[in-house]
Amino acid sequence: MASTARNIEPIFGCSSFMTLQTHMLADEHRFRDANGALSWIISALAISTKTISARLKRARLEDVLGEVGRDNIHGEHQQKLDVIANDVLVQVLRGRDGVAVLGSEEADDLLFVNTRTGDGDRYAVLFDPLDGTSNLDVAGPVGTIFSIFKTEPSNVDCLHPGAQQIAAGYVLYGSSTIFVLTTGAGVHMFVLDPSIGAYIRVEESICVPKFGATYSINEANAAGFPRGYRRYLQQCRDEGFSSRYVGAMVADVHRVLLTGGIFMYPPTQKSPEGKLRLMYEANPMAMIIEQAGGVATTGCERILDLRPTGLHQRVPVILGSPDNVTDLKECLSE
Ligand code: AHG
Ligand code: MN
Ligand code: MN
Repeated sequence: MASTARNIEPIFGCSSFMTLQTHMLADEHRFRDANGALSWIISALAISTKTISARLKRARLEDVLGEVGRDNIHGEHQQKLDVIANDVLVQVLRGRDGVAVLGSEEADDLLFVNTRTGDGDRYAVLFDPLDGTSNLDVAGPVGTIFSIFKTEPSNVDCLHPGAQQIAAGYVLYGSSTIFVLTTGAGVHMFVLDPSIGAYIRVEESICVPKFGATYSINEANAAGFPRGYRRYLQQCRDEGFSSRYVGAMVADVHRVLLTGGIFMYPPTQKSPEGKLRLMYEANPMAMIIEQAGGVATTGCERILDLRPTGLHQRVPVILGSPDNVTDLKECLSE
């Protein structure tokens, strides 16, 4: 007698069980010259961010909070966890063959690694090791942001417009640890299952809602914003929007990605270029938002078209649902 197949209960509430690693293996065929190097880099980012996540979870139990007593190139007081996260990423990434160049918010200059020549693609990985560090002391959300370009090992000027990114993403260390990734074919989301130490895919091809009635901006700086931003904010308030601002770009943009709305870090009188850095904050978040159908602009230009002038260059940032950005741009042009 033929046996009847038993219904298999879905694991983790997902219909297919896919780790970040298996997702990358399945994705590799899209890269004509694939030699697995990109998968190795993503796996390095996975192990680094699991390590950072574990250190964050033990904050206050271990002596990892507070300042180290020196400033980074931006004149910001470096936190112990800024340095720990940076060192974890550098140590893991520099051990991967395909990595030729590293660039970090916490290092003055690009770091050239694996300088040997040979076959295979070479990549530059630029990152913000910990984003939103003012949240650390209060156990608020923080993140890691990364941007990956193909590069020539001999090319010392490996700063290209964001449109040339091969992959980009972020990790949000919040109530759970979330890995969001694009390799240029949609945006996919993974959640760290600490019990098995793996990122599990929970959503594929995320779409930013066309509109969201939420804005995210440091409104305390409003007096210094260009008039168009103030007009837009007034319009949002008049229309009954909610305001949500965590003070960590990763967390604020993650909300926009999933629920729609708009994130802004405008130029101010004090910082005419804005605060956020193009190469490891604005570009990767812009690629994620565009890949999910949203819009990423400085207010004047598409972020991904900007020609970089330096590793630590700052730019005004607007990331959001298409309809929200259209409304803001109208206010900016009036
Ligand atoms: P970082 O912690 O990497 O220096 O970045 C902080 C950034 C970003 O995460 C956030 O959106 C913004 O700074 C918050 O700045 P304000 O405190 O000026 O609002
Ligand atoms: Mn940051
Ligand atoms: Mn940072």
